[in-house]
Amino acid sequence: MRSVSVVGVGQLPVRKQATASLRELGVRAAQLALEDAGVDRVAVLFAGNMLSDELQGQKHVATLIASEAGLHGIEALQVRAATATGAAALRMAYLAVASGDVELALAVGFEKMSTAPPTSALAKAMDAELEVPTGATLISQNADLMRAYLERYDVAYESFVNFAINAHRNATMNPYARFQSEISAKEVLESRIVNAPIRLFDCSPICDGAAAVVLAPTDAATAFTDYPVRVLTGTVATDWLRVEDRPEPLAVEAARLSAQKAYAQTGLTPDDVDFFEVHDAFSIMACLLLEAAGFAEQGHGWRLAAEGEIFREGRLPIATLGGLKARGHPIGATALYQTCEIVQQLTGQAGTNQLAHAEIGMLQSVGGAAATVLTHLFAA
Ligand code: COA
Repeated sequence: MRSVSVVGVGQLPVRKQATASLRELGVRAAQLALEDAGVDRVAVLFAGNMLSDELQGQKHVATLIASEAGLHGIEALQVRAATATGAAALRMAYLAVASGDVELALAVGFEKMSTAPPTSALAKAMDAELEVPTGATLISQNADLMRAYLERYDVAYESFVNFAINAHRNATMNPYARFQSEISAKEVLESRIVNAPIRLFDCSPICDGAAAVVLAPTDAATAFTDYPVRVLTGTVATDWLRVEDRPEPLAVEAARLSAQKAYAQTGLTPDDVDFFEVHDAFSIMACLLLEAAGFAEQGHGWRLAAEGEIFREGRLPIATLGGLKARGHPIGATALYQTCEIVQQLTGQAGTNQLAHAEIGMLQSVGGAAATVLTHLFAA
């Protein structure tokens, strides 16, 4: 396998209701990434979109975007891993270049969640026969996890508020973010209960957006950009699809296995990671991933939030440009936004949110209730 770098990025502002159509979102993000790389052609496009079948009545979106983005005739495939779909597109693009099969690959994610209420379509990430008929949703499954966590480790809900405060503070300086205002602990604590103990600010929002990246072999990267960022690895691991089948749901085994593979493949350890673009779709998931990826002992992830270690000036900054919670989580696009943000941090282009020390960045993306987890590591 050869070394791979990000050589072009493109992102559109995440909005509650984009005026652009689904295809316009995907095409525009793809074109922005191509322009950034200074190319008008790639060999392959991998499309990340979870919900268009149900919300827009549109399948076959990879070919749709390729043809409308001026890439007629190229290989174009849709990739899916439920709510980790964008990361799956990124991994396929990474493998296509790393294997030597192609010289340039495009991963583009786009999602228009606002077209119709997406909750039942999102729930299809779970077991349709055994979980969905009980009324379970991704929100209720995360609420179950949070309730179990608070009880098992005897932690107060208040210990989680910094996950939301940090994300919303970091989003204020990100022009692509869905939310642009800081929030206080009082606002978090007084926000409405969505599914106890989860409150509104524990959740990522329903939103629309698109983002894309172009990948090339590292030894050719400077032909496309002055600011290449290496993709050190991309890994995937899975768990039992049904949470109730897992012997230890709070251990988030797929995240642990995926992170361990990434560390083993790169020779890095959690101590080497300077910042973590975590899948903070819910506060509890951010906490569990901090533990599973090796940044805290099980039962102690909340401390990194409560003690401010997740802030930009802390030991392990997370959600440095707003995270899923405040930049937004337009599902198929999310991991591509995270990749764009990691590139910004590693190349000194994160503006006011620039971290003082950013050499290694980690991305984790979670499918469903952590049944599929992808980990990517990046270096300047
Ligand atoms: N965080 C902060 N504020 C939020 C928010 C969120 N997640 N969701 C909505 N709001 C705010 C909005 O800003 C809105 O005010 P505005 O219109 O002035 O901007 C207000 O609350 C009402 O928004 P609305 O869209 O009507 O909220 P809702 O009740 O329909 O949805 C949730 C709230 C939490 C149910 C919805 O955001 C949700 O389902 N989130 C989870 C999505 C999910 O499961 N994703 C996959 C995870 S892997």
